[in-house]
Amino acid sequence: MPLPKAELHLHIEGTLEPELAFALAARNGVELPYADTDALREAYRFSDLQSFLNLYYGLMAVLRTERDFEDLANAYLARAAAQGVRHAEIFFDPQAHIARGVALGTVVEGLWAALGSSEENHGVSTRLIMCFLRDESADSARETLEAARPYLDRITGVGLDSAEVGHPPVKFREVYEAAAALGLRRVAHAGEEGPPQYITDSLDLLGVERIDHGLRCMEDPELVARLVRERVPLTLCPLSNVRLRAVDTLADHPLPAMLDAGLLCTVNSDDPAYFGGYVDDNFTAVRSALGLDEQRLRELARNSFLAAFLADDEERRARYLAEVEAYDFG
Ligand code: ADE
Ligand code: ZN
Repeated sequence: MPLPKAELHLHIEGTLEPELAFALAARNGVELPYADTDALREAYRFSDLQSFLNLYYGLMAVLRTERDFEDLANAYLARAAAQGVRHAEIFFDPQAHIARGVALGTVVEGLWAALGSSEENHGVSTRLIMCFLRDESADSARETLEAARPYLDRITGVGLDSAEVGHPPVKFREVYEAAAALGLRRVAHAGEEGPPQYITDSLDLLGVERIDHGLRCMEDPELVARLVRERVPLTLCPLSNVRLRAVDTLADHPLPAMLDAGLLCTVNSDDPAYFGGYVDDNFTAVRSALGLDEQRLRELARNSFLAAFLADDEERRARYLAEVEAYDFG
């Protein structure tokens, strides 16, 4: 039985496995520019974030109906449950679908068909986080937030993703203010490829409560001290960092140094269909490549529940935390 954990950095569109992509393409009459699943997998050789995003946005063409989004989410939740996930906070990219003529309601209703019954069907509690694409305009983000108003009972928070460098947090200051006024929780990708200043600005200008990735904080000792002092959770994604060349090899990943520095680190899968593993595969990989001991692994699992947006259900958080403490590595 895998270590119980929460997954806090997971793009649902990044769980689209090649087999499901081809099945949905056939169902929807969409032609894919790949001969078969092997040819598609062959294309998963990324040189940086942008090279991945090009393929990731392209493959979304197969997602068209509520049922497609429901099937996608159910496939992820089944895999997540098998990897010890008790709670999942799931990102989605509404603008990438709206731009293709798929309405926000189709996306949210479809995802919710799976998420709303996830506890009964998979034993996984869930939250939904809507991400703004930072390489699109602030106006587009504002329009997206406006379009989401009818669905806010199902959306816990907002995030910021897509191409990071050249798209600083300041652009989204007003839309994050508006999101906060609507009672939404706030997170943002920062310091994946972008500079440490983007992490600082996400905290100061966007009021985020967690940093997604945050890897490059290690270049700024004062920022590290602040993140430790303010207990800001970082949602790290080690296999993603290797595949997108943020680190050379897993053995070079700064996770041990980050834990030693006292940072509140969590381990997550980001886009597992593309990066070679789901969340427990990330745990297993860092355990062997970085020599993390059981105490460190338990700390990572504990951190995931401490950092989860469960303030409305502290009893549940306490139950999950007790499971982590009781876990027997065998
Ligand atoms: N969208 C999906 N995965 C992402 C990542 N790792 N960074 C930024 N945007 C993303
Ligand atoms: Zn991400």
